[in-house]
Amino acid sequence: MIQRLDKMLSSQGKLSRSGAHKLIAEGAVSVNGTVCRKKDAKLDPEKDTVEINGKTVNYCEHIYIMMNKPAGVLSASNDKKARTVIDILPDNMKRKNLFPAGRLDKDTKGLLIITDDGDFAHRMLSPKKHVEKIYHAVIDGTVGENEKQMFAEGIIFGDGFECMPAELNILDNGTAQICEVIICEGKFHQVKKMFAAVGCTVTYLKRVKIGALALDENLAPGECKMLSRSEADKVFLKDFE
Ligand code: URA
Repeated sequence: MIQRLDKMLSSQGKLSRSGAHKLIAEGAVSVNGTVCRKKDAKLDPEKDTVEINGKTVNYCEHIYIMMNKPAGVLSASNDKKARTVIDILPDNMKRKNLFPAGRLDKDTKGLLIITDDGDFAHRMLSPKKHVEKIYHAVIDGTVGENEKQMFAEGIIFGDGFECMPAELNILDNGTAQICEVIICEGKFHQVKKMFAAVGCTVTYLKRVKIGALALDENLAPGECKMLSRSEADKVFLKDFE
């Protein structure tokens, strides 16, 4: 898509529009090897090579960030009182229009994708697309074959909402049970409400995977890493694909 030089530079996160103007005026910016001092010069960022002081700007239309969300931080773009996942992004990943693709509760940890790509988020979150979200939960209460069956048939909440079929696997049968839950939709407090419907309380919840994209366990809580588009697209694959 044809864009103005200043807009393209400032869309990449590291420069404000006025910062881009300054560099362009100083002659620090070249397009296809020729210094360009026109802030409104038109170019195709997919085809033209733009350099700042001889260093190529690797243009990406959208960005995809994997965060290991810590507990205590809000999955929102901004909030008057609480710290959000956007507030804790490292400076080199900050960019306009970023938002968390789907929400995890404040006390839920684990895999969160932060992006500026609305189509990607919509496709990942739409229950119709059947993208699996995989959670590990520690629960107070007991589940067994009966509850597995109820999850598989679709839990019905107190307000009559019928959940899509989900998978419940028991990972550890100690005093507090550790379970894996696989769901394809994301109603508010969905996993907690599903367990509440079978008489259990979730005391710990972590999202570990979306589709075939697993949380990188090398990321400490609060840490992030950039994903390429093909890495991010793993959310749309099943593990065996
Ligand atoms: N289900 C929940 O109950 N909470 C989350 O944060 C995500 C899924």
